Amino acid sequence: MSKNEVVETTEAQIAVHWKEEEYYYPSSKFVGQANLTDPAVFDRFSLDNFPDYYTEYAELLTWYKYWDEVLDSSDAPCYKWFKGGKLNASYNCIDRHLKDNKNKTAIHFVPELEEERVQHITYQELYVRVNEFAALLRDTAKLKRGDRVTIHMPMGPDLPITMLACARLGVIHSVVFGGFSPSASADRIVDSQSRVLIVTDAYYRAGKLLNHKFNADEAVKIAAEQGQTVDTVLVWQRYPGKYSSETPMIEGRDIFVNEKLKDHYGARVEPEQMLSEDPLFLMYTSGTTGKPKGCQHGTGGYLAYVAAMSKYIQDIHPEDVYWCMADIGWITGHSFIVYGPLALCASSVIYEGVPTYPDAGRSWRIAQELDVNIFHTAPTAIRALRKLGPDEPAKYNYHFKHMTTVGEPIEPAVWKWYESAVGKGEAIIVDTYWQTETGGFLCSTVPGIKPMKPGSAGPGVPGIHPIIYDDEGKEVAEPGIAGNICIQNPWPGMFQTIWGDRDRFVDTYFAMYNTKPDSKDWRDWPYLTGDAATMSEDGYYRVLGRIDDVINVSGHRLGTKEIESAALVVEEVAEAAVVPVAHEIKGKEPDLYIALKPGIPATDELAQKISDAICEQIGKIAKPRKVWLVPDMPKTRSGKIMRRVLGAISNKGDVGNVMTLANPEVVEEIREMVQK
Ligand code: WT7
Repeated sequence: MSKNEVVETTEAQIAVHWKEEEYYYPSSKFVGQANLTDPAVFDRFSLDNFPDYYTEYAELLTWYKYWDEVLDSSDAPCYKWFKGGKLNASYNCIDRHLKDNKNKTAIHFVPELEEERVQHITYQELYVRVNEFAALLRDTAKLKRGDRVTIHMPMGPDLPITMLACARLGVIHSVVFGGFSPSASADRIVDSQSRVLIVTDAYYRAGKLLNHKFNADEAVKIAAEQGQTVDTVLVWQRYPGKYSSETPMIEGRDIFVNEKLKDHYGARVEPEQMLSEDPLFLMYTSGTTGKPKGCQHGTGGYLAYVAAMSKYIQDIHPEDVYWCMADIGWITGHSFIVYGPLALCASSVIYEGVPTYPDAGRSWRIAQELDVNIFHTAPTAIRALRKLGPDEPAKYNYHFKHMTTVGEPIEPAVWKWYESAVGKGEAIIVDTYWQTETGGFLCSTVPGIKPMKPGSAGPGVPGIHPIIYDDEGKEVAEPGIAGNICIQNPWPGMFQTIWGDRDRFVDTYFAMYNTKPDSKDWRDWPYLTGDAATMSEDGYYRVLGRIDDVINVSGHRLGTKEIESAALVVEEVAEAAVVPVAHEIKGKEPDLYIALKPGIPATDELAQKISDAICEQIGKIAKPRKVWLVPDMPKTRSGKIMRRVLGAISNKGDVGNVMTLANPEVVEEIREMVQK
């Protein structure tokens, strides 16, 4: 294109003027030991060879029966990977390692209290505990293949044991993040039709033993109001043999796992031979509309994909000690604390509590004590660790060879601190871009092949072929121009559908760029991530953030509609609008604007009540920075709330021209209130 030619740009095609960062290269020491160093992988995994290249990933697993077909797209965009193959995820993460590695540590559990001992659970021990608990699930809770069960548990070894026991029986688990409220847990119980809820009595968070059983009782009550009966609540004890909650057990419904397990000591449960396409679990995530979506992940495709990502991108070897700081209640924990690492016979660290408790050195003491050499965390944690103790890592004797960041874009300055202070200049970093829906990574550098670039996730991982489209569906091929990042091809780790809502699955993720709704050809179904991104000359992607109404708080998605509907439950509230506001550590925080019903006075108590209502319905993670009780919402003449204007006010930015609004004078009033 000649320089003088006028370029037509659509709204999505905003030019982004990032300063291109310098490359960082992996050390020869790292490359010398890396699992993947042959650049030919990118030729093997070219679109011409799709989908057969993914058999390389499936070969990492042990199958009872090989698949008949690599990809069945007859029901596109609901795909079946390794169709007809049979396997069991629990067998792949445990049993198959026993022959050579039964005495190796599978899980290092680090309690939050430093005076408590670290537990080292071997593969043999994991095998015993998973079998016994599977027997309990089958014989006491009467769960069978295909049933769904909701798990609301904090970080502890009992959580992966519970998940793997479900997987052994073919029971579909739905883990709810421990910090979520009873109401959020209830919504998931109802949507997944669970009649069994599994919880822990209590857990430590920032030095306090929290009563978690209380949440179970509330959740069961709310679920019942919505028509879903939970007949069995299984209660693990934080201290086996001792009940650490004040909430009474309910006769006939609640069962202490640690007592009941005695009936099953020594039990062995034959793993169910699951079809590759059978669902393994549900993981709920926020979207544009109020109701969270149950992302349904399959067995064979998902497990093959996460095993491959752990092996080739995280570079896990069986002799490594690997610590992912995420919570198992999010997809990161499912894929990269439990299923990926354990499928590879790695040693995976589970830490109960807050990374900076009781002080900013805690994480590095854990790394030192356990000899962690692969470390995985999120920008929000990196920012917190950097703020509270920038010089702490140097005081401890640990050495990472590899570090991961995930969840939101990382600022180059933070990336550089991570590299030099945490990694001590010795570790490579992968910035992995992906989502709950995608099961595993979409973009990242392959650490033994490609250099790193601070702030950029990198190219598509082998087999993933991203493309940037504008709003009209034209490819944005020019570097540095933003658009909607999509994936051209399906991949084994992608979710199969939204639980019970195929139409929403198609509408949300595929409708935008699909022109032939009846097509069975995967080429007609590019996957819409919902993120804006740019590509640079070298094919590296830089993710800018969500294009939908979702706020990324501490690396996790919260639907603005979800928060707004929670506020609207408060009787006095007439209208609610949520906007993201920049936060030093969390990345973004929700700011909440409220217009009250006529005649209701704006008081601090009422603002507090609204804030509490949100924590109650969703969880503390959604707590607004501030509840602004405003005289009126800025609105367009057609009555639409101008969230853009509120966002600019919250972030101390330019509100732009507001004269076309129905009520421009209110903007100044709100600005004074917020920016005073
Ligand atoms: C959204 C997905 C992936 C597991 C944890 C979050 C953002 C994720 C990155 C990254 C820039 C990122 C995207 C994405 N995101 N990783 N490396 N760089 N942005 O899972 O809650 O499903 O959120 O997080 O916006 O869509 P999630």
